[in-house]
Amino acid sequence: MPASTVDGLAALAGLFPADFRWGAASSAFQIEGSPEEDGRGESVWDVFCRGPGQIAGGHDARQACGSYLRWEEDLTCLRQLQLGSYRFSVAWPRILPAGTGAVNHAGLDHYDRVVDALLGAGIEPWLTLYHWDLPQALEDRGGWLHPDMAGWFADYAAVVAGRLGDRVRHWITLNEPQCFIGLGYGDGSHAPGRRLPRRELLAAARQAHLAHARGLAALRSSCRLTPQAGLAIAAAHCVPATEDPADLEAARQASFDLADGSLWKTPWWLDPVLRGRLPEDGLRVFGRDVPKYSEADWRDLAAASDFLGLNIYSAEVVRASPRGPEVMPRPPGSPANRFDWPVVPACLHYGPRWFHERYGLPVPVTENGFSGLDWPDADGVVADPQRIDYLRRHLHALGEAVAAGTPVPGYWHWTLLDNFEWAEGYRQRFGLVHVDFTTGRRTPKQSAHWLRELIGTHRRHHRLPV
Ligand code: GCO
Repeated sequence: MPASTVDGLAALAGLFPADFRWGAASSAFQIEGSPEEDGRGESVWDVFCRGPGQIAGGHDARQACGSYLRWEEDLTCLRQLQLGSYRFSVAWPRILPAGTGAVNHAGLDHYDRVVDALLGAGIEPWLTLYHWDLPQALEDRGGWLHPDMAGWFADYAAVVAGRLGDRVRHWITLNEPQCFIGLGYGDGSHAPGRRLPRRELLAAARQAHLAHARGLAALRSSCRLTPQAGLAIAAAHCVPATEDPADLEAARQASFDLADGSLWKTPWWLDPVLRGRLPEDGLRVFGRDVPKYSEADWRDLAAASDFLGLNIYSAEVVRASPRGPEVMPRPPGSPANRFDWPVVPACLHYGPRWFHERYGLPVPVTENGFSGLDWPDADGVVADPQRIDYLRRHLHALGEAVAAGTPVPGYWHWTLLDNFEWAEGYRQRFGLVHVDFTTGRRTPKQSAHWLRELIGTHRRHHRLPV
């Protein structure tokens, strides 16, 4: 990454074009609470949270941020931060409580109100259809191993698109399939907590591929506004230790190399839906575990995505060596978040660049953020200097990629509110806004004020109304 000094906001804001979207992201299960409200059905995460020892501290999301009932407070936070876009997810169990069949119109009505209020506030909705909260009724029938799973998802997508597709233009079908399959069906650390052999994981991955493809088709036939649709991937990748061409090539190669058989790497999840084929090195490594993809599958999988959403938080640092790409050891005590994910700002320079080069699509950063353990000080101020530094450095790295021509339509910070961080419960605070999980009180952190200042500077730089 070219040397980038961490200078003023004006220089930083000037790296981004006038139409660049500044947003925040969230997901239904992590913020809404109200598990029974308005006829919502049970999700795999409701059940998983009841399992002894599954969630840190014995926490659950029955309350979370209370956003199902307090969503207008969240809208106020979005407006205070001057964010122009909000990526949120619709809870499948609120729309189809049994996963298929009868539609719960009260659930649809809720998201209808949210979309109208966002648009009324000049905030562009980016809607995620599936952010891990599978209806338990479908899991009971086999979940992502059931041959009808992709069809069930497409039917759900059509219901939501039929109601909101006259106002919502940007859609994300699936969020991080390598998480909900790899963690939910592989190591069991996420709902539904299954530990299946690789053969079944690859069978579930095929259903996820088909769900994305058939979801795109459902959106395009059900939306009245022509949809812009894609998926969001946990964009694991590597960055070079230096600008040396050998290190650059080593990092690029290591980012997409499946020789180690890691299902965390992205090509197995992305190549079928974005390149129309399975990666050769994956086929060699996975061998007989690979399920058959029929001609009809490949016809479905030819559905074109409009963008590839990148969820990027960190990266491995790699250098070239005679033995091939070598992962650099982390310097002792180097910066990291509360998950111990290393702070590597170059991830927002090389990640968008590498994924755009490989898949040729616009690459919105659909998640990026820092988890700490923030709290209001004696004066009620939530000082979070590490998150401000994280933001400044990562946005600088992203801005240099954008200025060099990588098509990044926007940046959605993970996340608006401190929320339920899956198996970590409430131990990881990613929010720009602090949430008191006892009272639900929302307090914008110092980083929220910093981001609002950057957005205002960006608007002034481009002579946009502030
Ligand atoms: C993910 C999910 C989010 C997480 C966030 C922090 O990327 O894992 O999309 O739901 O909360 O990434 O881990």
